[in-house]
Amino acid sequence: MSAPNKSYDPVEVEALKPEEIDRAKDEALAAVAAAGDLGALREVKAAHAGDRSPLALANREIGALPPQAKAEAGKRVGQARGAVNKALKARQEELERERDERVLVEEAVDVTLPYDRVPEGARHPITTLSERIEDIFVGMGYEVAEGPEAETEWFNFDALNIGPDHPARSMQDTFFVQGRTEGEDSGVVLRTHTSPVQIRSLLARELPVYVICPGRTYRTDELDATHTPVFSQVELLAVDEGLTMADLKGTLDHMVRALFGEGLSTRLRPSYFPFTEPSAEMDMVCFVCRGASVGDPDRPCRTCGSEGWIELGGCGMVNPRVLTACGVDPGRYSGYAFGFGIERLLMFRHNVEDMRDMVEGDVRFTLPFGMEI
Ligand code: FA5
Repeated sequence: MSAPNKSYDPVEVEALKPEEIDRAKDEALAAVAAAGDLGALREVKAAHAGDRSPLALANREIGALPPQAKAEAGKRVGQARGAVNKALKARQEELERERDERVLVEEAVDVTLPYDRVPEGARHPITTLSERIEDIFVGMGYEVAEGPEAETEWFNFDALNIGPDHPARSMQDTFFVQGRTEGEDSGVVLRTHTSPVQIRSLLARELPVYVICPGRTYRTDELDATHTPVFSQVELLAVDEGLTMADLKGTLDHMVRALFGEGLSTRLRPSYFPFTEPSAEMDMVCFVCRGASVGDPDRPCRTCGSEGWIELGGCGMVNPRVLTACGVDPGRYSGYAFGFGIERLLMFRHNVEDMRDMVEGDVRFTLPFGMEI
């Protein structure tokens, strides 16, 4: 067994001299105490406790010492490093506490301040769809015309060739606001359709007249999945020299394409309205199946019920009696008119299954339609 190397004095290893260890420790502790924020402390940690710090380098020297010297040197270096790490940890906690206190003050929110943000709503899809239709016609040179919702019977019925004894007078279930009193020739009703605006437009405007008349209308119908007592219609009226059914058809074709997409056609089916002659119901080709579901049980279409066609509204050439009632010469002028319900249009255009959803005012119904302007 070889004898210990008496000639090796660990004190001679520069980095392990007690005063060097103490100096490195004191410098480290002073640097830790001087670190003013967490960033500075990170740098102090790297310089005084990192792999290349004086104490870490001294620690590496221990391996070269003779066994009997290792213990003492190891203890000295270990204690110094322990003291530095302890100081680092304490300073870290102290600086973190200071930072948290500062952030709490700097980022304080006064929750008692008045709350000024209101949830964003959306315009009702009936309004936006109605405006979209108006835009289509305004783009063709039509003007938007409006009339009162409480309307005289004369405008709502008589001038539209629906006389007091006309059977069509009972076709529309009417809210009567004020009966016909002695001396007065007309009572007041909630208008049952937007057609009285035709009359108001013809009486108030210079010819030719091209108007689009959106508005709220009323009928004593029960609220159910397909009816509401308060609903919206859009009326179209054109009175000019030389207008024919072909102009009406072309106008309706354009409207349908602008609303539902290119390539869709319309058809007119004979019908009856006292204020148009001839009259028709207007259907459009189903914009979903485009007729492909007809007779094909494998491709049922919910939108048109596999009919291939969707009924859009009533139309026709303005009855000459209506023109005469408005002082327009039917020998010189002719006109066409078209009227339809917006709720029904919204139902099939957007797959709304129940009309009640449109009147209940629940924002969960209106929000998905977004803020269409
Ligand atoms: C009329 O009101 C005619 N004035 C339309 C017209 C204008 C024809 C110009 C010719 C020329 P009608 O009663 O069919 O027609 O009603 C038109 C549309 O209003 C219906 O197709 C339907 O979409 C809508 N409508 C009628 N009653 C209700 C209701 N209770 N709830 C919701 N929509 C309704």
